[in-house]
Amino acid sequence: MKKSITLGLIIGMIIIAYSCKKNSDIPTTNSTVYLDLPTTVAKYYPAAGDTVNNIATLGRVMFYDTHLSVNNAVSCGSCHKQQFAFADNVAFSSGYQNRPILRNSPPIQNLLTSQGVVFTNFVNSTIVFNDNSKLFWDGREVNVQNLVSRPIDNHIEMGMSDMSVLPQKLSGLYYYPALFTAAYGSTEITADKISNAIATFIASINATHTRFDNAIGNNVLLGSAFNLNLLTAVEQRGYNLFMTKYNCGNCHHIVSNSYNDSTAFMDTGLDPVYSDNGRGAITGNAADNGKFKVPSLHNVALTAPYMHDGRFKTLDEVLDHYSHGIQNSPNLNINLKDSLTLRPLQMNISSDEKASIIAFLNTFTDNQMISDPKFSNPFKVK
Ligand code: HEC
Ligand code: HEC
Repeated sequence: MKKSITLGLIIGMIIIAYSCKKNSDIPTTNSTVYLDLPTTVAKYYPAAGDTVNNIATLGRVMFYDTHLSVNNAVSCGSCHKQQFAFADNVAFSSGYQNRPILRNSPPIQNLLTSQGVVFTNFVNSTIVFNDNSKLFWDGREVNVQNLVSRPIDNHIEMGMSDMSVLPQKLSGLYYYPALFTAAYGSTEITADKISNAIATFIASINATHTRFDNAIGNNVLLGSAFNLNLLTAVEQRGYNLFMTKYNCGNCHHIVSNSYNDSTAFMDTGLDPVYSDNGRGAITGNAADNGKFKVPSLHNVALTAPYMHDGRFKTLDEVLDHYSHGIQNSPNLNINLKDSLTLRPLQMNISSDEKASIIAFLNTFTDNQMISDPKFSNPFKVK
């Protein structure tokens, strides 16, 4: 594609059907895949200039582009699906050779706000990523931009043994020169730009349009409104059970933008003997074994199955665990122990209470995020 063609023209031409010959192990063989971006680039970052928005658009295309995997079979979007708040609806997603990974795909949302960055942090038209948060179930990565290259070169997820082969590979695809030019001012593709663009896209995915956020003012200015009456009586009861009777809020910090304390790792007593050491495998400290990041409960009604290994199929099963399933595991968190006996807590949550808590958890769902076209797959199948 000639460099001289303007972006407007190219976006028009981008509708041209694009034949994607895929390997035989790909589910949608023989179908024609083409890129369908709207002619006006959707604004991801309202306060940012067009450049940042163009970077996010490029990131969106790459997020969904199976060419980022070694055999063109898997994209980020294969395991992080918009309708499930960018989580996956199976316990273990399949990687590039249908190889399962032994951790449940978490949702992707609020990555910037959970890093304490609001959308004002732009330098030279790129987003500045802070190193505050702990990403992955075991917190082994702290920077969104560094994180995104991991699944690409992870042999199980996308199988690219070397990120440095990607620029060459992507430059052979007709739609990238214009997208890179709009984002970074030249057709040159580098591994850094790939990470930066995908990170910029995923950092724009925000779950703040929820009924609970509305009620407590999270989506306006923190603390600006706290009006639980916007919830139904049952949901309010669930709120009280969650915050007071069962102290779920001690670990799941829902009354804050990020909904979680992403620096905290806890053992919730899933197993008496650990099959996955979680945080302990990263720190090498036995006292961290069996600890996993306290997950955000934003969109939790959409992100089944649950826990780091997807062992619970429903919220009901999660509550059964807290109610009477907590095991006496070596590093069981103190909040989940009986304060007198130090035995695993038996919460004995009644079925009525369970229903209220689940109704409350459903107020964390952001329907706008999961249907927003600017986060959707721009590749269409004919
Ligand atoms: C084969 C499935 C698969 C693919 C493909 C995949 N991921 Fe993931 N992703 C996962 C799993 C599983 C985890 C959790 C891993 C862990 O915690 O050990 C994860 C974790 C993450 C997280 C951390 C979220 C958090 O809150 O800690 C982000 C962000 C993410 N992936 C983005 C991406 C991006 C961007 C791509 C594409 C470049 C991608 N993923 C490709 C399965 C996948
Ligand atoms: C001691 C801290 C702690 C307390 C108290 C706690 N949780 Fe959790 N919760 C966690 C951690 C850590 C995980 C992830 C555990 C894992 O995957 O190994 C989790 C997972 C979950 C999940 C699954 C989320 C997902 O995306 O997989 C739900 C739902 C949940 N908790 C709800 C609750 C409710 C409701 C309560 C109160 C009855 C509660 N939690 C009490 C720490 C806690």
